[in-house]
Amino acid sequence: MSERVASMLWIEKYRPRRLDDVINQEEVILGLKNLLAGNVVEMPHLLFAGPPGTGKTTIALAFARELYGDHWRDYVLELNASDERGINVIREKVKIFAQYFTPTEEAPFKIVILDEADMMTSEAQTALRRIMEVNARVTRFILICNYLNRIISPIQSRTAIFRFKRLSFEDVKSYLEMICRNEGVDCPEEVLKKIYDVSLGDMRRAINLLQSAATVGGGKITVELIDNLVGKASPEAISKIIDMLRMGNFESARSLLYDFMSVTGLDAGEVIRLIYSELLSRNLLNAETAEILADFEYRLQFSLNPEIQITALLAKLIGALSVGK
Ligand SMILES: Nc1ncnc2c1ncn2[C@@H]1O[C@H](COP(=O)(O)OP(=O)(O)O)[C@@H](O)[C@H]1O
Ligand SMILES: [Mg+2]
Repeated sequence: MSERVASMLWIEKYRPRRLDDVINQEEVILGLKNLLAGNVVEMPHLLFAGPPGTGKTTIALAFARELYGDHWRDYVLELNASDERGINVIREKVKIFAQYFTPTEEAPFKIVILDEADMMTSEAQTALRRIMEVNARVTRFILICNYLNRIISPIQSRTAIFRFKRLSFEDVKSYLEMICRNEGVDCPEEVLKKIYDVSLGDMRRAINLLQSAATVGGGKITVELIDNLVGKASPEAISKIIDMLRMGNFESARSLLYDFMSVTGLDAGEVIRLIYSELLSRNLLNAETAEILADFEYRLQFSLNPEIQITALLAKLIGALSVGK
């Protein structure tokens, strides 16, 4: 997502910058502060495990900020195991990142944050473990996963494990109330409860839902509005979008897709993958549609404006899918 689009997102605007501003996760914060207060050079690799939207990425970034200060970005490499195609790409990127780095007192090592590590096969994880070892002098890894039991034990045994808790209603409520005050949004308690229930303690989903509701509701949010938005974010939304394209209804498809993306917080690449699997399951994937998707997925890497790309993608797909064709 481009910087400009990202900066309008409340999940970025309200991402805590400091460890002290994070809600809950006291044990994790305490453990990390102990590391920062101790002999940092001896810091082990870290493994963050827990449900989505509970602060894993936020805390990894805040930790780096507290360790390095203003220039933290120079010392941090963020990778996503499911985006970086294969362990070889990860190995190459880490290698380049670790090259020519001389540890200093202020920056005794660089940090590699690897998200979705549990999406890797166990063979890939074995190779990852090797990469961690080879680069251990100049880098520390922070591995992030949802399910600890999907991480191979040789990695578990060589990392300090931090378990993240699902956030309670009180946790999410207080954070959403802070955002509402700041944005001038009126959101009664019953609505906050509704948002919590449908987002299952996932703060990312809760904030995205709040932002969509505030945008649609013009500062006044109701339970009905939330229900309506949640309906639009259901997996069936993609199926509806395909239906609309087949009937040649471009405007409705585009508008539903934008709502879907803003409520779910999914990015253009993730949406393309969802469309791909929907077409596949409906037997609509053929040489033409597959090529359109592959082409856009490729173009996205170089695009500063994914929204324009997604609109163009729908226009292409409508040509290929239209039943009247
Ligand atoms: N514990 C938390 N305290 C405050 N905000 C949080 C917390 N957890 C998540 N958030 C909010 O949700 C968004 C997503 O959080 P993130 O750290 O990316 O979650 P994940 O655990 O999936 O990595 C953040 O931008 C932040 O605004
Ligand atoms: Mg994350």
